[in-house]
Amino acid sequence: MDNELQFRISSGLKNIIGRDLITDDFIAIFELVKNSYDAHASEVLIEFENLNSSDAVIRITDNGKGMNYEDLINKWLFVAYSAKKDGTEDLDYRNRIQNKTFYAGAKGIGRFSCDKLGSKLKLITTKEGQYSFTEQIKVNWDNFEQNSKEEFINIGVDHTRLKTNPSIFITGTVLEITGIRKDSDWNYQKLLKLKNSLSKLINPFESNEKREFNIEIKAREFIKTDQQQNSENRKVNGLVRNNLLSLLDEKTIKIRSDIS
Ligand SMILES: Nc1ncnc2c1ncn2[C@@H]1O[C@H](COP(=O)(O)OP(=O)(O)OP(=O)(O)O)[C@@H](O)[C@H]1O
Ligand SMILES: [Mg+2]
Repeated sequence: MDNELQFRISSGLKNIIGRDLITDDFIAIFELVKNSYDAHASEVLIEFENLNSSDAVIRITDNGKGMNYEDLINKWLFVAYSAKKDGTEDLDYRNRIQNKTFYAGAKGIGRFSCDKLGSKLKLITTKEGQYSFTEQIKVNWDNFEQNSKEEFINIGVDHTRLKTNPSIFITGTVLEITGIRKDSDWNYQKLLKLKNSLSKLINPFESNEKREFNIEIKAREFIKTDQQQNSENRKVNGLVRNNLLSLLDEKTIKIRSDIS
């Protein structure tokens, strides 16, 4: 008799699409900021706290469209699915967006870069227009590494509906990553390098583009170091800028002409 068989999925899949796939910390943060961009955020705040201690935190906060409970179930918790790919991501408010949306991601795995940065994730999100519902999800990535005979889908993720929204923004998503990976070593030089790599996401000709997108880095530990720097490019704290324009200013001969 013919019968149908199914694949089973080991919890080991998590590493393949998580910490093993994302090869460096910059790409990991880049993926998460791309998600904020795709969620129509105009502001993304990347905070580093208690670096070099076991309480280190990386927090990425955006003021994007956020997610409701259904989005969490049908999108965020649905592995390798991307509503950006099948065109349903912005169905709920497409008519409010004038231009066709171009997404930075569509593979459906970028969220697993949280795992590259730390072993625990707390995601807090409030969807635009649904301000009274703030949802929280907690993922302990270590749980996927205990026993590779365990099925991926049997490993639980905590969900709570919060009474108040702790974010600095009314809507959007907060990713709070703890259990920061030991080999990451988020020092001053590395944060500078991160700031530099993120500048690629900022349009150097901002004024020509309708869409505003600001990325800010906050790392209290390096405020003092920043104060000793004389160039803005050497400061970790502050807005990520695309320095193409300032570079052009410094390093090129300009011809100015007036047509009358
Ligand atoms: N910051 C966010 N705000 C709102 N929704 C988000 C956010 N981050 C993720 N999502 C939702 O979760 C889905 C999964 O994100 P993920 O990064 O894994 O996939 P993707 O962005 O669709 O594709 P890619 O793997 O290429 O990044 C997104 O498609 C989006 O629906
Ligand atoms: Mg993505």
